[in-house]
Formats: sequence, structure tokens, C-alpha cells
Amino acid sequence: MERSLMAAAAAHAALAEPWNWLLAPLSGAIEHHIADWTAWHARLMVLGWGVLLPLGALAARFFKIVPGQNWPEQLDNKAWWHAHRAMQYAGVLAMTLGLWLAWGLGTRHGAAAQVHAWLGWGLCIAGWAQVAGGMLRGGKGGPTDVRLRGDHYDMTRWRIGFERAHKSLGWLAIALSVMTIVLGLAIADAPRWMAVVLALWWCAFAVVFAVFQRRGRCIDTYQAIWGPSGAHPGNRQPAVGWGVRRYTPAAWRARFGPP
Ligand code: HEM
Ligand code: HEM
Repeated sequence: MERSLMAAAAAHAALAEPWNWLLAPLSGAIEHHIADWTAWHARLMVLGWGVLLPLGALAARFFKIVPGQNWPEQLDNKAWWHAHRAMQYAGVLAMTLGLWLAWGLGTRHGAAAQVHAWLGWGLCIAGWAQVAGGMLRGGKGGPTDVRLRGDHYDMTRWRIGFERAHKSLGWLAIALSVMTIVLGLAIADAPRWMAVVLALWWCAFAVVFAVFQRRGRCIDTYQAIWGPSGAHPGNRQPAVGWGVRRYTPAAWRARFGPP
């Protein structure tokens, strides 16, 4: 009886081992204390830059036409637009609150803390600039608007500049946020499970991105809104950005089938 109890205790300890490892801080220290402001700074920043902003960018890239939509009969599906704006506003709000909590409380002890603070400030400026850029993107125009003339329908230099700047700054900032969050976890000596969960999440994000990209789901915004006809001025110019696809109705049906 006693033997079996001891065996059960040993099995329990072995099973508990991975949990102990995951619950311990990254440095392996026994004790871990962080200030309340740091914990909330970290939660809000991970919510903003770790979750909402990348998901909102993914929605903008791959859901201009949603699966099953009868394109080009059904144009201008605004699902991506509402998702993008809701997630980007919420993400930038979380980021701003997170910054407000950390502002002036950092010690800047060590290279990691310094780099984290510099990158962190850079990301906050980038986040606000993305919102400002989005608001200043110009008019829409086209047959779906009250006025035919507009920056987007005409693909003016202003609109082309917006698309180039907004897409590249957005994805660059999302990539840099991975580094900033990792540095944050290191300086706060966060529990290991947080790093493990985030690493799995970023891998899953990269896989989903690659799958959508290979399936050809990153469709030119212009075509998604006004269709593929050469009568529209923007279709006579190259699409803006890396890996953006254009389709004829036949090529679309061949790839995605009838709805
Ligand atoms: C709330 C204000 C915002 C507005 C109105 C807005 C608007 C837009 C629009 C119109 C597009 C489509 C561009 C195109 O395909 O031609 C877009 C794409 C994108 N936005 Fe925003 N945006 C906002 C905030 C943000 C923020 C804060 C980020 C931060 C990361 C961001 C990141 C992106 C990215 C990465 C793309 C490109 C997706 C792709 O690869 O196609 N946006 N946004
Ligand atoms: C992309 C997400 C993040 C951004 C944009 C960001 C931004 C910042 C900024 C701008 C500062 C400096 C504030 C000042 O000027 O005093 C800072 C400090 C700090 N952050 Fe973050 N942060 C992020 C994520 C995290 C995470 C996930 C953690 C912890 C798990 C963290 C922990 C800290 C700590 C401990 C400090 C103080 C560093 C010191 O002692 O100098 N941050 N952060």
C-alpha cells in the first residue's frame, strides 16, 4: 500500500515538473515580483500589438473578398473594412493606455531595457501615424459613391502614397513588435509559459498568413471594390504592394470555384 502511494507521488512529481518549469520565470529564479504597472503595461501591449493589430492587418490583407462571395457580381463587401477599423482603433487604444502606465517609470537599466524603450516609443509613434494616415487617406469616389471623382477611384498620387506607406509601415511595425514584446518579457523576467504561448501564437499567425498568401487571397482592394473592368481608371495602373493579386472573372472562378 505504502509502495503504491510512493509510486503515485513520484509520478505526480514527474507530471508536475513541466508545469513547474513553465510557471518559473525565464531566468529560472524561484521568486518573481513585478509592479502592477508593469503587469498591466505588458497585458495591454500584448493585447494591442500582439493580438489586435496583427489580426486587423490580416483581415485587411486577405478578406477584401470573403470566402463564398460571388465576385465580381457582389462588389465592395465592407466586412474587412469594419473589422480593420475596429481592431486597429482598439489596438491603438490599448497601446496608448499601456504607454501611459509605463511612461517615466522605466529605469533604463541595461541594454535590453533601453532598446525596449526605444523600440516601444517607435511603435507607439507608428501606431498613431497609421491612424492619422488612415484618416487622411483621401476620398473614395467611383460608381459606388455619391461622387465619381475621388482619390481612390482615380488612384491619385496621394492614394498610391497612402497605400505604399500604410502597408509597409504597418507590417514593419508588426514585425518589430515581436522583438519589443520578447525584450519586454526578458526585462520583466516573465514566467516561461508566456513566452511559449506567444511563440506558438506567432507561429500559427505565420502559417495562416502563408496559407492565405499561397491560395491567392490577397486581392487588390481596387478590384474588390469596383471589379476588374478596364473602364475603371485604377485597373489601368499596377496594383500597389507585394504579393497583391488581380483576377479576371474566369480566373477567379477557376481558382475559387462557383460560390
Ligand atoms: C483606424 C485607422 C485606420 C484606417 C482608416 C486604416 C485604413 C486602411 C486601409 C484603407 C487599408 C487598405 C489599403 C489597401 O489595401 O489599399 C489598410 C490596410 C492596412 N492597414 Fe490600416 N488603417 C487604420 C489603422 C491601422 C493601424 C493602426 C495599423 C497598424 C499596424 C494598420 C495596418 C494596416 C496594414 C498592415 C494594412 C495592409 C494589409 C495588406 O497587406 O493588404 N492600419 N488600412
Ligand atoms: C509591443 C509592445 C510593447 C511596447 C510598444 C512597449 C513600450 C514601452 C515603452 C515606450 C517603455 C518606456 C516608457 C518610458 O519612456 O519610460 C516601456 C518600458 C517597459 N516595458 Fe514595455 N512595451 C511593450 C511590451 C512590453 C511587455 C510585453 C513587457 C513585459 C512583459 C514590457 C515591460 C516593460 C518594462 C519592465 C519597462 C520598463 C523598462 C525599464 O526599466 O526601463 N513591455 N515599454
